[in-house]
Amino acid sequence: MHLVFLSVFLAFFVKINEGADWCYQSQFTCESHCKAPDHWSEAEHSQSCAGKSQSPINIVTKRTLPDERLTPFKFTGYQDTFHSYIKNNGHSVQVAVPHLATISGGDLKMPYKAVQFHLHWGTDGGPGSEHTVDGEQYPMELHIVHMKQSYTTLSSALQDPNGVAVLGFFYEESASVNRKYEPLINALRKIKTSGANTTINGLSLNALLPSPKNMTSYYRYKGSLTTPGCTEAVVWTVFEHAIPLSRDQLRAFSELQFHDGKKMVGTFRPVQPLNGRQVYRSAGSVALASGILLAISVAAAFGLSRPN
Ligand SMILES: *[C@@H]1O[C@H](CO)[C@@H](O)[C@H](O)[C@H]1NC(C)=O
Ligand SMILES: *[C@@H]1O[C@H](CO)[C@@H](O)[C@H](O)[C@H]1NC(C)=O
Ligand SMILES: [Zn+2]
Repeated sequence: MHLVFLSVFLAFFVKINEGADWCYQSQFTCESHCKAPDHWSEAEHSQSCAGKSQSPINIVTKRTLPDERLTPFKFTGYQDTFHSYIKNNGHSVQVAVPHLATISGGDLKMPYKAVQFHLHWGTDGGPGSEHTVDGEQYPMELHIVHMKQSYTTLSSALQDPNGVAVLGFFYEESASVNRKYEPLINALRKIKTSGANTTINGLSLNALLPSPKNMTSYYRYKGSLTTPGCTEAVVWTVFEHAIPLSRDQLRAFSELQFHDGKKMVGTFRPVQPLNGRQVYRSAGSVALASGILLAISVAAAFGLSRPN
């Protein structure tokens, strides 16, 4: 009899552990029983986390290939202001975007519409981006999640190997405050606890992004969502130019809390193996531009040394 109770208890306990939520490395403790990044593939519906085309990655710039099809994006509706919710979802801060803003060009096969954006960050403004460039980790990374215009839900788009397009932007610390970010950063104070949300008004996607001129340089590869289920359905675009935020603005994100009440910090997945994938770069990227500069300076040097 006792044995039966014991085994029922054990089964229950094991079940709870199986259902334990996924977490970032920063949250993991021996008592937490949460699944840290190395164990995400054991979480429910997350076998893909052990797949061969995972994100994020470290971008090795000298191994990227220029691709002239990677033209500047056309942003539609990005300048429109909207009213929405900003939410602490227990893993990040997320803003729902009305499905009206779209991107096209940039070798996308059809327009993709914006669904939501969220961020990944470190501790008090320290390293925290998901993608890294030549091993450098930026303090924060913005992900604007889009799905093919023909879909109505993200879960249906995720069934399509090219169903989702994410635009990734890095942040860098600047001496001055980025005023365009004040509405977003002020809203953080109201959503400290996990599950909390508040309205956010008068926001446009454009206001969060670099100027169009500074968005012509980017990297492209095929990857996955960077949180469980890690679905391999994402056309990734990672922009080279970082968005400036002051130290205090970056630190404001570390005031949020995970559901256990601990500081929400280190909300990034470690970089994943490329497994033979090729990373491409747009024609406007610095790697290429510096090549042109080199050619110009070589030409100039020849010009200078040519007798008369
Ligand atoms: C926002 O929070 C309120 C109250 O806590 C809740 O009723 C509502 O469903 C939440 N909305 C969203 C979009 O999460
Ligand atoms: C574009 O990038 C350059 C170089 O980093 C920077 O100096 C400039 O302020 C940026 N322009 C805008 C409008 O963001
Ligand atoms: Zn993300």
